[in-house]
Amino acid sequence: MFKDLLIKKNVHFKSTWKSPANIAFVKYWGKIGKQIPANPSLSMTLKECYTETSVEFSENSCLSVELYLDSIRNDSFAVKIKNYLESLLEYWPELSKLKVVIYTKNTFPQGTGIASSASGLSAFALAFTEYLYFINSREIDSLFYRISSNLARLASGSASRSVYGGFVSWGDLSNDYATVVEDVHSIFSNLQDTVLIISDKEKKVSSTGGHQHMGVHPFKEARYQLAKFNYAESLKCFKNGDLEKLGIIIEQEALTLHALMMSSHNPYILLRPNSLLAIEMVKDFREQTKLPLYFTLDAGPNLHLIYPSSEKNKIQTFINHELSQLSIRVIHDEMGMGPCRL
Ligand code: PMV
Repeated sequence: MFKDLLIKKNVHFKSTWKSPANIAFVKYWGKIGKQIPANPSLSMTLKECYTETSVEFSENSCLSVELYLDSIRNDSFAVKIKNYLESLLEYWPELSKLKVVIYTKNTFPQGTGIASSASGLSAFALAFTEYLYFINSREIDSLFYRISSNLARLASGSASRSVYGGFVSWGDLSNDYATVVEDVHSIFSNLQDTVLIISDKEKKVSSTGGHQHMGVHPFKEARYQLAKFNYAESLKCFKNGDLEKLGIIIEQEALTLHALMMSSHNPYILLRPNSLLAIEMVKDFREQTKLPLYFTLDAGPNLHLIYPSSEKNKIQTFINHELSQLSIRVIHDEMGMGPCRL
């Protein structure tokens, strides 16, 4: 799709984007070949947790990437972007003569269970797509976000979903790019996500490692089948406004993700004791109050607490007074409308 956009010569261009993180309700865990997901996934785009990235493109004698995170030079992230651009040389050999300088910052702390790769790499993909459009003298059109999603996916699967707001799916209509879930009941408007940061220590096993383990996982076929089923059921819940059923699915997805880590050939545990205590407290609170509070987890120890905006006051009182004691930080977020160009 992006192959129609040609680079004949690199020119000077600057692009700045703000792009949000997302939290997966049905998880992408396991891939085939070049970032093709083994099952469809579904996520909610966040509002307050985002990355703001400025990218300067210019002509150079070789491909070079310089990256500043919070104004501090970060060579390890620069290498990741360089590797990514190298992987695109097969489409655009001219990228071998591109200089890229990136200034980036997150509104949330690094390594806190909020997918900075989704927001960071989608912000970069949006800036890169704008660069391609500029070189091709093409006005931003309806295909722009689809192309950005496709390019973001090649950098990080979950980043493909961050180029859209609301609820987003990937690996159903297409494996190449994500699409917006259109049929959503009003009960899900402004769905809340409070992130309970249990630990901000760096994970021992990255998502890349986790995806690799799935290739030889003893339960992989069962997992992919369950994910497909949960995906289809979740779409029905969105349509019918069945928050209760969706809540049970997202909790099962979260615990399945961690159970897959614990049962892989190289087993590992990313949950911490306080993650388990918080899960128990959420379940007890739900049982006692009958309020719709659910949890999900990313590939880390931190809980994302999901609840409707109609119950915000009561549920945030519980989070702020009780659950927060198990955490080092609480970030109140909610569903967002997607990226924006600055
Ligand atoms: O996009 P990646 O390669 O960082 O993998 C994301 C994996 C999960 O965050 C655990 C699930 C998901 O669908 O976002």
